[in-house]
Amino acid sequence: MDSSDFSGFLSCRSSVREYDKTPLTKEETEYILSCASTAPSAGNLEAWDVVVVTDEDTRLALADAAFGQQHVGAAPVLFVVCANYVRSMSQYGERGILYAVEDATIACTYMMLAAHAHGLHSCWTGAFDEDEIREILGLPPHIRPIAILATGHGHPQSRLAERMDIGEHVHRDEW
Ligand SMILES: Cc1cc2nc3c(=O)[nH]c(=O)nc-3n(C[C@H](O)[C@H](O)[C@H](O)COP(=O)(O)O)c2cc1C
Repeated sequence: MDSSDFSGFLSCRSSVREYDKTPLTKEETEYILSCASTAPSAGNLEAWDVVVVTDEDTRLALADAAFGQQHVGAAPVLFVVCANYVRSMSQYGERGILYAVEDATIACTYMMLAAHAHGLHSCWTGAFDEDEIREILGLPPHIRPIAILATGHGHPQSRLAERMDIGEHVHRDEW
């Protein structure tokens, strides 16, 4: 892939919130997970974990925990990406809290792009009640849910989301 292919790949991804009922194949799910495992992480500690949810009752419960966001219940698979504080804090102490969140965020980004590369659609979902997610999935206290990546065969909208001008983000040499 050359650099223009790469930027084209990135710019044609969009969040998709409508899916048909076709489940992901085992191969599609494994592809997404194996791509996540190539993500960089602080000290290579991979301080992230993921709960792969396909059970319909659990998906609907997670949709409730995500303040009723329908796409969460509608997606055939949910990757609930979590920060593993113990794994990172064992080496980095308090700083490990931040690193674990970063590791989980990068892993989720890789999953989102892997789904896109595989012709699947996804929506990163960050608005949810953490305690409810913990309860539904039985997460231990040192595991913090960071994102629900709703994934499926979707129906993208024709318009891509607009972005700020890059100049509004970039500061050169000093703020
Ligand atoms: C940290 C984060 C949290 C998000 N939370 C939600 C969410 O709770 N519900 C939702 O529908 N989309 C959510 N999104 C998706 C954004 O709305 C979307 O990425 C943004 O509008 C840009 O659109 P695009 O992904 O199509 O480029 C979230 C994205 C990120 C990165």
